[in-house]
Amino acid sequence: MSVIKIGIIGAGSISDMHFDSYAKNPQVEIYAVCDLNQSRAEEKAIKFGAQHVMTDYHELLALEELDAVSICTWNNSHAEIAISALKADKHVLVEKPLCKTVEEAEAIQKAVNESNGKTLQVGFVRRFASNTQVLKTFIDAGDLGDIYYAKASCLRVLGNPGGWFADQERSGGGPLIDLGVHVIDLCWYLMGKPKVKSVTGNTYNKLGNRANIQNKSYYKAADFDSNKNDVEDLANTLIRFENGASLMVDVSFTLHAKEEKMEIHLFGERGGAQIEPALEIATEKHNTMLNLVPQMDSRTFDFVKGFQDEINHFVECVQGKQETISPVEDGVEIMKILTAIYDSSKTGAEIQF
Ligand SMILES: NC(=O)c1ccc[n+]([C@@H]2O[C@H](COP(=O)([O-])OP(=O)(O)OC[C@H]3O[C@@H](n4cnc5c(N)ncnc54)[C@H](O)[C@@H]3O)[C@@H](O)[C@H]2O)c1
Repeated sequence: MSVIKIGIIGAGSISDMHFDSYAKNPQVEIYAVCDLNQSRAEEKAIKFGAQHVMTDYHELLALEELDAVSICTWNNSHAEIAISALKADKHVLVEKPLCKTVEEAEAIQKAVNESNGKTLQVGFVRRFASNTQVLKTFIDAGDLGDIYYAKASCLRVLGNPGGWFADQERSGGGPLIDLGVHVIDLCWYLMGKPKVKSVTGNTYNKLGNRANIQNKSYYKAADFDSNKNDVEDLANTLIRFENGASLMVDVSFTLHAKEEKMEIHLFGERGGAQIEPALEIATEKHNTMLNLVPQMDSRTFDFVKGFQDEINHFVECVQGKQETISPVEDGVEIMKILTAIYDSSKTGAEIQF
């Protein structure tokens, strides 16, 4: 396939990573940009030389020569745009989370299955990080043995991005669907995607968005607005798998804590690993416990390289050179887990799969 033509739908904060990464890939032409906010779309189109700018994504999908789209809109429009794109015969890279509900996720999967062999890649960008891929090589070679426990904490002390992120209707939830989606997926992926047996969880709306706090900056949505906030500020979960393994996670937008925390650990019968804050492997040899520190450019998640590798992979999938490592069925499974955590929190009961 010659150079592929890409359309980007949603030209807000995270789209920068998509625009920059596509622009650096010589196999790609950024062909069209769409955003509800016309000036935002126009600004990106000018910067990246896109020929078409629009505010209605249907017009973008009607461009016959367009090969693929990135969906970088609010979570509540991922499903309808992804399904329309597949029906219009386009490949799709959709930002995480895949969508807001299991029903939407299954409808997207159906559209993929009914498409003419189109790729839908879910934007689980952390799968593409160098530390993840290096660790996966060790795991696949059996160096960790069976992984029976994983634990992740992604705790912001002040980090409710406001705007649509804080609006349940448009986001589907707070830190669980926004941050938990990444770390739950990463652990599940590296554990070998075990079948879920049951899920229990708790969510808390205790501290609000803390818009009163001064002297500390944080990530904000393109249309930042602190007036509305009806999402949780903390979530935790224990996920049990059919193979006996378990995964514990806690995530927050805000918390009375001394500092931010980003830790991801996996524990296996032959070795363990920490992925964040920096990749390190623990094992034993000749009756001695060892910590192995890989020599690499970055042992932590490199945001720019992670996105570049995600987008390069998507482009190769569009060109038919390989199959995505982040397929729709994984997005569906993660939606089932996230939904079960919210349901468990509401009912106070464990959800059986
Ligand atoms: N992979 C990551 O690490 C990561 C990081 C941040 C955000 N995200 C995801 O990216 C998506 C966007 O987040 P963001 O931070 O860029 O938000 P944002 O608010 O900064 O940008 C979203 C843009 O989408 C536009 N938009 C919304 N609905 C639209 C529609 N129907 N048609 C056209 N344009 C529409 C908005 O006008 C806005 O400009 C979300 O799904 C979010 O979860 C992923």
